[in-house]
Amino acid sequence: MSVFGRLRPLLDTALDRTVVPGYTRIGYRLRQSGWADDLPQGALRGRTVLVTGANRGLGKAIAAGLAGLDATVLLTVRDRESGERARDEIVAESGADVRVAVCDVSDLGTVRAFAAELRTRVPRLDVLIHNAGLLPATRDETADGHEITLATHVLGPILLTERLSSMLAASDDPRVILMSSGGMYTQSLPVEDPEYRVGSYRGAVAYARTKRMQVAFTPILARRWADRHIRVYSMHPGWADTPGVASSLPGFRAVTGPLLRTPEEGADTAVWLAATKPAPPTGTFWHDRRPRPEHYLPWTRSSDVDRDLLWRYCATAVGLDRVD
Ligand SMILES: NC(=O)c1ccc[n+]([C@@H]2O[C@H](COP(=O)([O-])OP(=O)(O)OC[C@H]3O[C@@H](n4cnc5c(N)ncnc54)[C@H](OP(=O)(O)O)[C@@H]3O)[C@@H](O)[C@H]2O)c1
Repeated sequence: MSVFGRLRPLLDTALDRTVVPGYTRIGYRLRQSGWADDLPQGALRGRTVLVTGANRGLGKAIAAGLAGLDATVLLTVRDRESGERARDEIVAESGADVRVAVCDVSDLGTVRAFAAELRTRVPRLDVLIHNAGLLPATRDETADGHEITLATHVLGPILLTERLSSMLAASDDPRVILMSSGGMYTQSLPVEDPEYRVGSYRGAVAYARTKRMQVAFTPILARRWADRHIRVYSMHPGWADTPGVASSLPGFRAVTGPLLRTPEEGADTAVWLAATKPAPPTGTFWHDRRPRPEHYLPWTRSSDVDRDLLWRYCATAVGLDRVD
């Protein structure tokens, strides 16, 4: 192995710790040059994958990447028309079987109905990617009374996975992927205030707290569905130039502009986690095709007791052990 090859893991870790180079396209390009395990053509032929928030940004790029590996893709969107536009573009590029499904993942009743309907027409689901996300300007609640980022990033994905778990269990290699964010490194678990009712509301904090929850719950979800052989991963994409970043973080985009990753670069690890063989260990957190630490700042750590308390809150909120 060349000297550069031997130094590569050290370089990768240094990129991760220094954030800006690692999260931008600089980190992606440097790491990518060392990836020996490119996915073979047709890696997902015969597999069915569902991607939420797939009409634009990273979700659309993930869906296109999966379609490029010949998966059957269920683009799951809030707005059918923009979903159909995305589908037409992906089909024109890949020729894959891409279908549009409509579900607002923040609305628990809608999620239950969507999952029930999907179970009647799709016998097996191989990969479920929870990509839908938002960074709201002001505090908003869903019809169920949950703060919007908690509902979209945590409650909806837990409920949707649970309700599709029989379809996932029908696969010989089922995988679930939660799209978190490097922003989660700045926050601890909001054990005392999961619905962000206390203090002045900041969308970026709500966003980072719920992205932290996704990562903290990944091992719990992995254990929950282990008897069905469902593997669960969380990941962060770095910083990619998407419509969401343009509308929610215009100042950030103006500063980082040319260094931002393309949506395809941000989508890469999700596509890789969906398709690489053998499947990586369940319950793990990833960025740029490598497992990553869950904490860099000591004050973001929580006890197992606190994590389990917050998990119980969310499991109860979605009625996890209820059958209806
Ligand atoms: N871009 C980045 O640098 C970056 C960094 C870290 C993490 N992420 C994460 O990556 C994911 C995608 O981000 P993006 O940058 O591509 O954002 P984006 O351009 O804003 O796309 C977000 C997608 O989520 C959908 N969505 C939002 N709320 C939904 C709901 N309740 N039900 C169903 N779909 C919903 C949106 O649908 P509509 O079109 O209907 O609004 C849209 O398709 C998010 O989870 C985000 O937190 C992105």
